[in-house]
Amino acid sequence: MNTPNTHYDTLSRALHWLTAIAVIAAFILGPEHFGREMRQGLDPATRWDIVVHETLGLLVMTLTLLRLVWVAVRPAQPRFDMPGWMHLTARATHGLLWLMLLAVPMSALLALGSEGHPLTLLGGLRINEMPVIAQSPLANLADWGDVHGMLGDMILWLSGLHAVAALYHHFFLKDGVLMSMLRSRR
Ligand code: HEM
Ligand code: HEM
Repeated sequence: MNTPNTHYDTLSRALHWLTAIAVIAAFILGPEHFGREMRQGLDPATRWDIVVHETLGLLVMTLTLLRLVWVAVRPAQPRFDMPGWMHLTARATHGLLWLMLLAVPMSALLALGSEGHPLTLLGGLRINEMPVIAQSPLANLADWGDVHGMLGDMILWLSGLHAVAALYHHFFLKDGVLMSMLRSRR
């Protein structure tokens, strides 16, 4: 008989925590009003906080795409006994988090591309224009800078709730959910 899976595999855990740290760091370094400053002519390459923010954000997107490939082929994720509504809420929250992990960086690329601002990354990497985005019908659909700022706030709120739920499982339900993401099976 197969032993039930009680812990996430090492790669899933590593990618989860690396992504969580990168999201929180990108949020903390989300330099206030820098969209407006760029519209006033600021070259983002001259500001380390913008360069680090954009690099961390693209790291989040890359890690998320890698994670999604891994999710498709990895060992089954752990399952815990819990009421149906709790299981559904957890699934819905994870689904939304996955969506936001892609939507937050993508909205930033739409903002830069549609307003003609450069993408500036650590190591002096720079893409001055993104014509594919600028000429796409999506470019004029919204103020993507505003959308990005809003989504950036939302992902933090959602992951805050998600973290509180994980702590509730650990301290009140004592059911091993948090440990499944923290360490390997002993
Ligand atoms: C998970 C990743 C990210 C998070 C949590 C995040 C969060 C934020 C937040 C909260 C703001 C608003 C700052 C403020 O005005 O107070 C912001 C602005 C901005 N971020 Fe990000 N960001 C992420 C990824 C990225 C990426 C990948 C890029 C570039 C490719 C980027 C470029 C920008 C730009 C250009 C603005 C200014 C938008 C405007 O006001 O027009 N961000 N970000
Ligand atoms: C920005 C921060 C975070 C994001 C974006 C995030 C996102 C996610 C995602 C997408 C999953 C599903 C993982 C998978 O299937 O491989 C997950 C699972 C999990 N996360 Fe997070 N997370 C964050 C922070 C945290 C924090 C701070 C904690 C703990 C205090 C935590 C605890 C967990 C646990 C225990 C699971 C497994 C839950 C289960 O299987 O039901 N996460 N997280």
